[in-house]
Amino acid sequence: MAHFPEGFLWGGAVAANQWEGGWNLDGRGPAMTDVTTGGTVNTPRLITYIAADGTHGTLTRGQKLPEGAHYAVLDEYHYPNHNAVDGYHHYKEDIALFAEMGFKQFRMSISWSRLYPTGLEKEPLKAGVEFYRDMFKEMQKYGIEPLVTIWHFDTPLYLEEHCGGWLNRETIEHFVRFATTCFTEFKGLVHHWLTFNEINNTIQFLDMQGNLPDSAYQDAYQHLHYQFVASAKAVQIGHAIDPSNMIGCMICGITWYPATCDPKDILACRYAWEKNIFYCSDVQCLGEYGSYCTRLWNDHNVKLDITEDDLDDLARGTVDMYTFSYYMSNLVTTHKVTDKVGGNFSLGARNEYLKYSDWGWATDADGLEYYLEMIYDRYHLPVMVVENGLGAYDTVEEDGSIHDPFRIEYYRLHIEAMDKAIANGVDLIGYTTWGCIDVVSAGTGEMRKRYGFIYVDMDDEGKGSMARSRKDSFFWYKKVIASNGEDLSDL
Ligand code: BG6
Repeated sequence: MAHFPEGFLWGGAVAANQWEGGWNLDGRGPAMTDVTTGGTVNTPRLITYIAADGTHGTLTRGQKLPEGAHYAVLDEYHYPNHNAVDGYHHYKEDIALFAEMGFKQFRMSISWSRLYPTGLEKEPLKAGVEFYRDMFKEMQKYGIEPLVTIWHFDTPLYLEEHCGGWLNRETIEHFVRFATTCFTEFKGLVHHWLTFNEINNTIQFLDMQGNLPDSAYQDAYQHLHYQFVASAKAVQIGHAIDPSNMIGCMICGITWYPATCDPKDILACRYAWEKNIFYCSDVQCLGEYGSYCTRLWNDHNVKLDITEDDLDDLARGTVDMYTFSYYMSNLVTTHKVTDKVGGNFSLGARNEYLKYSDWGWATDADGLEYYLEMIYDRYHLPVMVVENGLGAYDTVEEDGSIHDPFRIEYYRLHIEAMDKAIANGVDLIGYTTWGCIDVVSAGTGEMRKRYGFIYVDMDDEGKGSMARSRKDSFFWYKKVIASNGEDLSDL
């Protein structure tokens, strides 16, 4: 007998920049993803610019724009997020397919620059507001609850390039205006919100880059502090506008294990949890910085701009639920790592007990149970797993069918893990699989790294009809939802 409660919010998730496309339609302004090329599992995505002398240049994530240069879309590159999978024109069809699977909830994000093209405007674009309102009404027709991420990696490019992005305190104000518009315009249509997607990536990303100067840590922690304040202000406003709003944090959830029983590894593992996971969720769930933060800041001589008003906002703007993405666990060690593996905005040592995907991500369903129980015990807040899935190659058979037993198996294991966690007392209220329809990969910009139950005919170069078709996993997930997690058997 499965333990999923009645009304459990089964569904799937996408993000505007990876699904919508329509990057320059109806007045939308560009975001960083619109000047970011495609990459592969071995080659990074590039950010393109025109230098002061007119020459074309590229950066990788984290590198700074040279003096006098400006971000630009260049003819010689393909930008997969420009059209993505054209959710902008296909949303009715896509929502109908989600409804066919029995979705109770659909997680999507609102593109900030579709409402505020530069981020500085005083009023939102009507076309943008209408687009999202129509989408929410469409979901309402089928009884699908939207779960809306307000920020999913897409600060308007203008704010990034001309105003210092999240290193400028004023960005808080611009974000709050945007969030207030969302709460006001979509009141009654949306009840579940997330402020910042995978807010902790900013810290995890530092370790991926290796030996960075203290200034990189200074910037990352300051950037985060402004996002924490922006999130806390948004939570307060969201509650004031509609007290029934449930607003969550969203953490890139990785289960960290020590690689050996060397006490130094055990301690390093605890530190990894504090730095990568708790640093953000303690502030957002408990309303204050944890005691270990002093150590983290001192390690890199970080001095933050934090005011008394900020601390007051953090205390008042705690979230109503804990949500996170979960794809994998990672090993932490103080010993030399000879076999490094990748992951979701993270790196670690290979775990010989686990299997790895073609993109080097570990499959570890036990790690999901571990994470759920650990987090619930710490915060006692309702929890949702709002991303989980396997990025894999799909083959379309001659008759158009797509057999993806590997995806079904991945989901089965993770759903079983969630079931156990619920049986063990976790108040898990929802599950949205990542990329329920194939979308552009955030990490590599590829289309071939597919997560969906729904296949989209589109390749890495942007060629394809965009036609949607059902994979085997579509029918399997439909069965899972219809049985409220009871029937996980093969088709
Ligand atoms: C998370 C993001 O990092 O993982 C998503 O919130 C992203 O935007 C997902 O797509 C999977 O990562 P990737 O790199 O396989 O697309």
